[in-house]
Amino acid sequence: MCGIVGYIGSNNVKKALLEGLKELEYRGYDSAGLAVMQEGRIDVFKAVGKLNNLVDKTAAFDPKGFAVGIAHTRWATHGKPTEINAHPHRGDHSFVVHNGIIENYKSLKDSLIEKGVRFISQTDTEVIVHLYESFLAQTKEAFRAFELTIGAIEGAYAILLIDETVGKTIFFAKKGSPLQIGEGTSWRYFASSDAPLIGVCESAIYLDDGSWGYMNDRDIKIFVGNATVSPQKKPLPLTRSAAQKEGFRFFMEKEIYEQSRAVGETLTSRALANVVRLDELQEGFLDGVESLRLCACGTSYHAALSSSYLFERLAKIETRCEIASEFRYRDPILRKNELFIVISQSGETADTLEALKMAKRSGSKTLAICNVDNSSISREADAALLTRAGVEKGVASTKAFSTQVTVLWLLALYIAQNSGALNAEDLAREINAMRRVPSVLAIKPERHEHIRRLSKRYLHGHGFFFIGRDLFYPLALEGALKLKEISYLHAEGYPAGEMKHGPIALADPELFTIALISKNLLKDKMQSNVEELIARDSTLLAISSERLALADDLIEIDEQDHPLLEFFEMTTVIQLLALEIAIRLGTDVDMPRNLAKSVTVE
Ligand code: G6P
Repeated sequence: MCGIVGYIGSNNVKKALLEGLKELEYRGYDSAGLAVMQEGRIDVFKAVGKLNNLVDKTAAFDPKGFAVGIAHTRWATHGKPTEINAHPHRGDHSFVVHNGIIENYKSLKDSLIEKGVRFISQTDTEVIVHLYESFLAQTKEAFRAFELTIGAIEGAYAILLIDETVGKTIFFAKKGSPLQIGEGTSWRYFASSDAPLIGVCESAIYLDDGSWGYMNDRDIKIFVGNATVSPQKKPLPLTRSAAQKEGFRFFMEKEIYEQSRAVGETLTSRALANVVRLDELQEGFLDGVESLRLCACGTSYHAALSSSYLFERLAKIETRCEIASEFRYRDPILRKNELFIVISQSGETADTLEALKMAKRSGSKTLAICNVDNSSISREADAALLTRAGVEKGVASTKAFSTQVTVLWLLALYIAQNSGALNAEDLAREINAMRRVPSVLAIKPERHEHIRRLSKRYLHGHGFFFIGRDLFYPLALEGALKLKEISYLHAEGYPAGEMKHGPIALADPELFTIALISKNLLKDKMQSNVEELIARDSTLLAISSERLALADDLIEIDEQDHPLLEFFEMTTVIQLLALEIAIRLGTDVDMPRNLAKSVTVE
């Protein structure tokens, strides 16, 4: 979270920084700021709230000619989202932007305060700039002072620092937070993802963890420890196909509609008539793998949990699921012969990335299922399967989820095909169902309109319970997550059979239960669970292909002969329901409060 842009060149520096930040705003939108250095003078602007406020604030600022600039969009970790806490943070003559968390900032801050340094913000970041200036006062050598600063801080960071007394230079460091360098014909950028670089730079250098150094108008020097590193340049796409809403009210709505096409892409050249091909996995990659450990956060975790039913049922391979932030600190025992699979839309989620590194350190073979090629997670894993969802802008994840589940289903079939866990006929039946997913995901206008009309009955109450069984339990979790993320209403996902062990105590007409009822999996069991809630007068909205006599409302899905086809159709229903409720409540659907698209702090 948080987005960073740096720029050195003679083109319009303000435009470069603001357009770069626009591409990164999804990473955090509590506040934004920029600093521009020209001929030894630095101008700084900061604004609370969305980037447009910074655009307004800098309207009259018109720097011309060669300039060095750094900019930042923030998701607050230490200190409220105020202007003072917005980046860049300043010392006497230098400025810093930072993404990540400086874990030992308190002790560093205390010792700087003892030496008479005055802090004005509540952030951990401000310590960097004061530390740098205090080392500079001792060493009189900026590069050395920066090196000592990096040596003194602990935690995760991507840092850009400029100094009036040095001029024409950006110092940088990266550890645990993404940072890359882009090069154009006569300008250079830093950015915390590819997005700001595409269309303005021809190539990118993806910095490894532990990299630090400087960039000036002539040179880029990169070190890891004391050793100089020769940068590996990778070409970037030439044009930035700026995501547009294309007539939809929100990116999230557009992305719900895009799912059909996206999953079509995911399946291309992978789900063939009677066989699954995963060319990204080298021959023998799965040899010796006896069990799977899936690890992820948020919606990606729900995709993992959904697929655990498929791996065990179809591929007959033991599968465990882990929430990455829990996994990291509970001294997990990793088994030999276990494939460690991380799932991430962004490929930058700090907890997932660290879990992946832990698994690698313990000797596990690792696989990433990721939407972003060249992301930290894709690069770190032994192999990666890309989900091909395309850019997802809405903070609430939609098409990333459906493409992740699709890739995981493909992988389950691939394992089953290799191990013989499914016979040829069953495999062909699965693939046939899979190839029908794009058509099931196509949104029918009348279905959407029905959900829109129905949504007005679900704007109050004391809570929502999404319930389901088997595969539909993780989908219930995802339905509840979607609703709470964008409507700010309290919602929980629960295994339907577990309601009687506690939550049923809440049942009354103001408890809205959304029941995901599959015709193909545990239908009778699910109906009994629903009856128990109806008997306690809970308000019940059924999502099902069949009428349920006593349900208050029904969103009817098509009759499907495969549970996963019901799963994908219901996926669009829960997404649209959350969307329409949020729109009626007037929230900012694409950038809901307190959230960020990519969570690069733990
Ligand atoms: C954030 C996003 C979620 C996402 C989660 C994991 O919380 O708001 O939508 O599911 O991070 O992100 P990842 O990029 O690793 O899938």
